[in-house]
Amino acid sequence: MSRAAHLLAIDQGTTSSRALVFDPSARVLGLAQAEFPQSYPHPGWVEHDAEEIWRTVLKTARAAIRNAGLEAADIAAIGITNQRETTVLWDRATGRPIHNAIVWQDRRTAEACARLRADGAEPLVSATTGLLLDPYFSATKIAWLLDRIPGARAQAEAGRLAFGTIDSFLLWRLTSGAVHATDATNASRTLLLDLRTGTWSPEMLRLFRIPEAILPEVRDTAGLFGVTEPRCFGAAIAIRGIAGDQQAALAGQACFSPGMVKSTYGTGCFALMHTGDVPVASSNRLITTIATQLGGRRTYALEGAIFIAGAAVQWLRDGLGVIAHAAEAGALAEAADPAQEVTLVPAFVGLGAPYWDAEARGAIFGLTRGTTRAELARAALESVALQTRDLIEAMRADWGAGADTVLRVDGGMTASDWTMQFLADILGAPVDRPRVQETTALGAAFFAGLSAGLFGDQDAFARSWSLDRRFAPRMSEAERERRYARWRDAVQRTLSRGM
Ligand code: G3P
Repeated sequence: MSRAAHLLAIDQGTTSSRALVFDPSARVLGLAQAEFPQSYPHPGWVEHDAEEIWRTVLKTARAAIRNAGLEAADIAAIGITNQRETTVLWDRATGRPIHNAIVWQDRRTAEACARLRADGAEPLVSATTGLLLDPYFSATKIAWLLDRIPGARAQAEAGRLAFGTIDSFLLWRLTSGAVHATDATNASRTLLLDLRTGTWSPEMLRLFRIPEAILPEVRDTAGLFGVTEPRCFGAAIAIRGIAGDQQAALAGQACFSPGMVKSTYGTGCFALMHTGDVPVASSNRLITTIATQLGGRRTYALEGAIFIAGAAVQWLRDGLGVIAHAAEAGALAEAADPAQEVTLVPAFVGLGAPYWDAEARGAIFGLTRGTTRAELARAALESVALQTRDLIEAMRADWGAGADTVLRVDGGMTASDWTMQFLADILGAPVDRPRVQETTALGAAFFAGLSAGLFGDQDAFARSWSLDRRFAPRMSEAERERRYARWRDAVQRTLSRGM
């Protein structure tokens, strides 16, 4: 084995930066993680200090290499994966951000989106980008920055500012400003990319009033993006893969064939179904996104995002104080009274797919004098599975019978056997939990490894995916449908407007 046969995955997420070193057989040799502060300057606003992101990325990447007992010369390539949509604008001359990054969860541009919707812009936006007019995506965040920061628009038009999602910003910093690029999966989250051509759309740039001069170059997911400035790690390392974190997880779960579905449970939940080289337009309020771009060829996915998954358990712990540790929720749910039917709709920050109701707020139904923390814990865990069923229903309706009947899962909540069993029960389909849980970082390493000639091709990688446990449905069809109908009814009563 040549010395430089390892891969470094940088996973820059919403609440922490992580770095993992993999060997060519996908074993984790070193890992480091650092949380960073969240800033909430107004209700509904969420910002990150991009400098803090950069510091934690550098620190964790160096620590992961060290923890693996390696040095830069042992690393063949870096793969970057990242929280998507989060928007940074920086000065090309100094490399300094002109404002905090506006995070994907930020709702400050809700009104701007509503105005564009009222003007009838959504059909064209959806047809071009595969997305919806929602503050979640980058374009209205960029426009907000250009309009609110004195002088920013003029500077942008003069070519003095650069825009990037977090991947682009990190690439710029790692290469000391030599490369301003992004990959197609991240670009497909901006509302500015033409999904079919993989190029920036002039119509969308006009609609959102974004000067072309600020945009990064859109490249393949796997390929040579640049080399790190030697000061970063002591020697130059090639950056050979970039993918948005959910697309990286799709690859890390080896979902490469049309119909395969993965669902990642973090703070929220993101389910993606691979649809091959066809961008399937959703009739059920899912979004269409680029899964990979390799050798100029794009593959696509249908995606559904739920904003509150693990966050429902955090709420039990930090908001209600009914559990001390997240891991207690499963045992408590198991002990809940089966005769009580308590339903929680965790619309704490509105509802994502397929409802897209930014104004809805959470509700609990079926409380009685006998309701205890156990029924609340069960309702919180069940809500995650029931929301997943909403997404899978929408995927089945968009894709037809070919949608895979197996769901591959990853993320913190999948450690709860109780939740995974309920998920299988409510979906009426098997739920597969893989042995390697670091699917997002593994996906990033896979893309970098593909370009570096390690890790083989997709088929070889898919063969190395292995099962930890399959949860098969046990609930009767009648019971499953009765419970799902109860959930649908609870959601209808929670929405801020009729569906
Ligand atoms: O679209 C947002 C998503 O990429 C965030 O993922 O894991 O950082 O919460 P995560």
